[in-house]
Amino acid sequence: MGTKEKILALFEENKGIYFSGEDIAEKLSVSRTAVWKAVKSLQSEGYSIDAVRNKGYSLSANTDILSAQGIKKYLTLVCSEIELTVVSTVDSTNVAVREKAASGAAEGYTLLANNQTKGKGRIGRSFFSPADTGIYMSLLLRPHNYSAQQASKLTTMAAVAACEAIEAVSDKKALIKWVNDIFIDGKKVSGILTEASFNLENGFVDYVVLGIGINVYLPKGGFPSELNNIAGAVFNKSVSDGKNHLAAEFLNRFMGYYHSRESSNCAEKYRNRSLVIGKEIQIISKANPTTAVAVDIDDDCRLIVKYEDGKIERLSSGEISVRLT
Ligand code: BTN
Repeated sequence: MGTKEKILALFEENKGIYFSGEDIAEKLSVSRTAVWKAVKSLQSEGYSIDAVRNKGYSLSANTDILSAQGIKKYLTLVCSEIELTVVSTVDSTNVAVREKAASGAAEGYTLLANNQTKGKGRIGRSFFSPADTGIYMSLLLRPHNYSAQQASKLTTMAAVAACEAIEAVSDKKALIKWVNDIFIDGKKVSGILTEASFNLENGFVDYVVLGIGINVYLPKGGFPSELNNIAGAVFNKSVSDGKNHLAAEFLNRFMGYYHSRESSNCAEKYRNRSLVIGKEIQIISKANPTTAVAVDIDDDCRLIVKYEDGKIERLSSGEISVRLT
């Protein structure tokens, strides 16, 4: 860690508290000029750092800039293998982490971006990823001897972890629209894209890239018109540490499920948060959109649907629409 990163860690751990340049210099064994330069550089990145004569420097309690230091202070031991990298902008964190995986990066490598220029959604869609208002994060996993079916359960764990994380930092109730969209008050606030690479010899997963995007705040210029009635955000006003805290809560919960392998328990939690069970739905990914009733979700996260002619089917992927009333 360089001087700037160390100073940011100190400030993030002690928001609102003043440290003299001399104290910081002594603590970090650097010169006062190096401290001054690092503070200037952080200020130029948008950090609101007060500099008061005879008191020193203090990071404003209201700051909410995504950073590894800001996230780490909330991580628990279950995340000890998580190696965080936070960048300002990237095309897609999933694409970047897949490249890292292909060049041998270890399990736990996690990339977060403040902005994505080509955020990827499911079924070839894009994911709107404007700067400063969201969390765009991809996590590299290398589970041992996982089949495709086991790998699909990681998405279930992630959806439950995202709902629990949202509820831990806000007063909102988060629900899941099958397969993996997180809704608050009828609006989508988060989506998950899990991509896997398989070993063709044994059929097991080589690695999984689990990507999650969360609209933490409403975008400054609003959502594009096509998302306006569909998308929402976790908070409607700025919250101290909103993004860093939410990202960490997600990682803590997700890694907890991943390590405990309590997937059936997670399936139950997923079902309890389902927006679709018992509702009439349209299966829009079929050649001819078909009406059915969503009867249940099984332990493998397949949607059990009953068609108008009484036929029952288990869907493991696809796109459905449901009236959220
Ligand atoms: C969806 O709702 O269709 C899934 C959206 C997944 C978006 C996340 S943002 C972080 C990661 N990087 C991407 O390019 N996509 C995922």
